Amino acid sequence: MTENIIVIDEGTTSTRTMLFAADGTPLGSAQREFRQHYPGPGLVEHDAAEIWKATLACTRAMIDKAGGAARIAAIGITNQRETAVFWDRKTGEPLAPAIVWQDRRTAADCMALKEGGHEAAVQAKSGLLLDPYFSGTKIGWALKNWPQLCEAGDRLAVGTIESYLVYRLTGGVHVSDATNASRTLLMAIDGAGGWDAELCDLFGVPMALLPEIAGCTTSVGTTDPALFGGAIPICGMAGDQQAATIGQACLAPGQTKATFGTGAFILSASGTRRPYSANRLLSTVLVQEGDVRSYALEGSVFVAGSLIQWLRDGLGLLASAGESEGLARSLDDNGGVYLVPALSGLGAPHWQPGALAALSGLSFASSKAHVARAALEAQAYQAHDLKTAFAADGVDWADLRIDGGMAANNWMAQDLADMLDLTVERPDFIESTALGAAMLAATGAGLYPDLLSAAQAMRGQTTRFTPALEADIRKARLAGWQSALAKLLE
Ligand code: G3P
Repeated sequence: MTENIIVIDEGTTSTRTMLFAADGTPLGSAQREFRQHYPGPGLVEHDAAEIWKATLACTRAMIDKAGGAARIAAIGITNQRETAVFWDRKTGEPLAPAIVWQDRRTAADCMALKEGGHEAAVQAKSGLLLDPYFSGTKIGWALKNWPQLCEAGDRLAVGTIESYLVYRLTGGVHVSDATNASRTLLMAIDGAGGWDAELCDLFGVPMALLPEIAGCTTSVGTTDPALFGGAIPICGMAGDQQAATIGQACLAPGQTKATFGTGAFILSASGTRRPYSANRLLSTVLVQEGDVRSYALEGSVFVAGSLIQWLRDGLGLLASAGESEGLARSLDDNGGVYLVPALSGLGAPHWQPGALAALSGLSFASSKAHVARAALEAQAYQAHDLKTAFAADGVDWADLRIDGGMAANNWMAQDLADMLDLTVERPDFIESTALGAAMLAATGAGLYPDLLSAAQAMRGQTTRFTPALEADIRKARLAGWQSALAKLLE
């Protein structure tokens, strides 16, 4: 029986490998956190070698649990997107730190490109905007500033995290999938567009350094038998937000999900017609099956679960992330306290890389419960700002499917329903990202005829939260948020 699926879910703060049955039932998981390096203000780096080590250990644990490599039909990979990795083709070892998606070091470069009038053309081709978030300017910066990369000559390979993991797992296959490639600023997302010569030139990235772009259910290679005692096909790959959208079965145009992980990312499926945003949202590849791409409109919010983590680990205000729910519930209202969580600038729809976070409305009557509540409320406000931008782009959400670790917070789930004035649906198994990668791998392995069938068969039960807040309270709270946000953007 080889109908188990292994998923490697390589997030921003931890690596997790999960074992699934072919019907989507989760059978086990192994997880390891890895270090976050903050070498200066706005700088965020990872050690790709540490990520690889963690991946290997977690994956071995799950293959053992399944009873060996022969019992695994396929491996799926999903990952933090936009993070740029630089490695040696001969050894597979990193040649420099990985520059993480949260890193703002290229804010001035992006500003210069905007002032040079490049944004409209970049958006038309790549679907993205000029912000340090995306990989293109990070790769260009690294090639200019880290001499060992140029010194490596032909040995240098560049890619995002999934690309690095496949390289290590297969012992030398250099590929990326279309969803991850669509986050680099270097790919033309329309039709069968690949790396674009003009974009690569603009960002100073030689195309020869980049991986081949593959479909998300394409078999890109098999694992080196020396690693797991067998050659397992790798045939499911997508960036984590696209994987979560698939895991939530949001494949028909208009179906929308929000994942609350390190950041909060809202994607609305657009079908095979590529969307254009006039309201500072992103157009991105949702999935590529064979040669056929479908797209999504995306709003990317940089800080969600990382805010609660910071209240816990940075400020010592919470003993555990779960404590925030009880604290928020202990208050009748927010007491006028608002937290705008611009801890790594502001993403969609504002795109202000230099913005700093602000806590406002404090008095001696304020307690840590107010701060915890303001942090949770901020998630609904940020989602509301995106709802407005999506609607302005002609995409009205009928409901919202939520997932990710922070979505386990019942108070927050209800607050989202209240503030968005929409039904919010949460799967009982909230790791939609991993489930989506399992659906891709199961499709790639031929266990299902197509992704839609896999999504229908593998998605589990859900719980629904319906709006229950009086309209005038909602209006007053949104006005309070808007005024806190306006002060920060002044
Ligand atoms: O675009 C960044 C995103 O992929 C990070 O996801 O799950 O670490 O918040 P996450």
